[in-house]
Amino acid sequence: MKAIKSISEIREKVKALKQEGKTIGFVPTMGALHEGHLSLFRLAQEHVDEVIASIYVNPKQFGPDEDFDEYPRQLKNDLAKCEMEGVSAVFAPNDNIMYPSKQYVRIELDELNKYMDGGSRPGFFEGILIVVNKLFNIIQPDVAVFGQKDIQQFCILQQMVKEFNHNVKLVMGPIKRANDGLALSSRNKYLDDQQRKMAPGLYRALRYTKKQISDGAKNINLLLDHQKRELEEKGFKIDYLNLFSFDKMAPVKDVTTGSKYILAGAVYLGETRLIDNLIIEIS
Ligand code: PAJ
Repeated sequence: MKAIKSISEIREKVKALKQEGKTIGFVPTMGALHEGHLSLFRLAQEHVDEVIASIYVNPKQFGPDEDFDEYPRQLKNDLAKCEMEGVSAVFAPNDNIMYPSKQYVRIELDELNKYMDGGSRPGFFEGILIVVNKLFNIIQPDVAVFGQKDIQQFCILQQMVKEFNHNVKLVMGPIKRANDGLALSSRNKYLDDQQRKMAPGLYRALRYTKKQISDGAKNINLLLDHQKRELEEKGFKIDYLNLFSFDKMAPVKDVTTGSKYILAGAVYLGETRLIDNLIIEIS
């Protein structure tokens, strides 16, 4: 399988598929594909006739001190995985194709990026909105699939689709985990053996906290503080660990029956930042 690098060529490919009456699913990625990504291809295939993937490490969503240079790039390997999964085409542009000139137009976000990853990574979601907006315009898919792993990304993109009238249905895929519970991530490659052994501690803390909240724990802040302390004692550095409202993704102190929440955490093991989350529905 060969990657398609040019916008005109991928457009031709999509046009040909649409002329055959095929529906198109789209899974954007930054490559270094793992089972999590592959699960999204499979989920997309349940919704549409043909699945197109993109592989592009988008510079606009990396901060100046982040890992853009180190981010794993393994296109050949990724293309083989896409082929095995029956992906119909892979769009893998370079920076000159995606950002050929100075950018005069920006997308700004309000409120939805104030907390969680948006709070910790200035400009992150603006960079994602630009690239996904461009990718949607290039591919024009019927369905696009994103992972719950990056739940704030999903919710913000859902809002973009609504406000910008993109003619695409978004589908969210569940988080794929290693056997010990660690959420799969291209960044797990950075962990050394000892860090890798510790890493599922974040998921365990989230699971424990979810159970306590679902069982009616009264003081949620106390519960979260306790979990943060325990994680710190184990050697994690906490970026955030909190309960957020599902709609605005803002921290909440109490829960109400019938509402949906996101219990989310971001931690560092050495230089490596890990994120994970669980959805809580209070019945
Ligand atoms: P990337 O981190 O490569 O992730 C691509 C897609 O895979 C995202 O929708 C992400 O949520 C999903 N994903 C990652 N780990 C997963 C796991 N363990 N289980 C299920 N799905 C998982 O997210 C991005 O790239 C970029 O921001 C992108 C949307 C491509 C824009 O540049």
